[in-house]
Amino acid sequence: MVVFKREKDLKRYLLNISSKGGLVGFVPTMGALHKGHLSLLKEAQNQCDCSVVSIFVNPTQFNDKEDYEKYPVDTSNDILLLTEAGCDVLFLPGVEEVYPKGIDNTPTYDFGYLETILEGKYRQGHFKGVGQVVARLLDMVQPDTLFLGQKDYQQCMVLKSLVAQIDLKPEIVICATQREDDGLAMSSRNRRLLPAQRAVANLLYQCLVSIKTKKGIERFSIVEKECRDILKEKGFTPEYVALADAADLTLLDEYDDNRKMVALIVASIGSIRLIDNMFVN
Ligand code: PAF
Repeated sequence: MVVFKREKDLKRYLLNISSKGGLVGFVPTMGALHKGHLSLLKEAQNQCDCSVVSIFVNPTQFNDKEDYEKYPVDTSNDILLLTEAGCDVLFLPGVEEVYPKGIDNTPTYDFGYLETILEGKYRQGHFKGVGQVVARLLDMVQPDTLFLGQKDYQQCMVLKSLVAQIDLKPEIVICATQREDDGLAMSSRNRRLLPAQRAVANLLYQCLVSIKTKKGIERFSIVEKECRDILKEKGFTPEYVALADAADLTLLDEYDDNRKMVALIVASIGSIRLIDNMFVN
């Protein structure tokens, strides 16, 4: 695996590959890698000639200073995992490389409705930061295909909108959420869970399963309340338990079989915020 820290070195290397017709597959990450990231890498390796993973903990997408400061960093282990997995290129830029003109002078994008609901509503400014950094990373990597995880469903939609707004048009491939044996969605933040918190952390998954299985049997408003109540009972602070149209994230009050639906949940336990989603039909 080749490791680059500078945009110009990365670009020179990748230009050599793409000028010979090689396809570049890109997996952007914030490090603290787990099997979910590695499954994205595997897909990039399957579909492309050169796999590129970036690790950059982007300061502009954290609305909560503590979350940024406590975000797990484990670069030497990440390098080990990527090497073992046969990754071709690791891009490891610093803040000055990503934002050479300064954060305030780096363009941001408008995601309209997506910025006003769910993650957009609860994490003000988060998607502005995600769009800003991914636009910069795409400009540096210039990939043919961008690989994203379904776990961050709304982020996938935001990034589709980003690609529609910028000149580069990589194909976007969304890969299934990877789960622990008990259903907990794999996430870098999971490593901060204390044993007692980890023991109940799959409750989000269980709630999603119950939203799915109770379709046609119970009203969504009742199931939503049941989910909130059980989450609270087990020590979580639920932020949202939502049902939405999977195509555009229009929020739904009730199940609607005429639409493809996705259920989305966010709940915190202690200071750790967990997120998950599942298609309902
Ligand atoms: O999903 C993430 O890890 C981040 O939001 C991303 C896409 C790497 C941008 O910093």
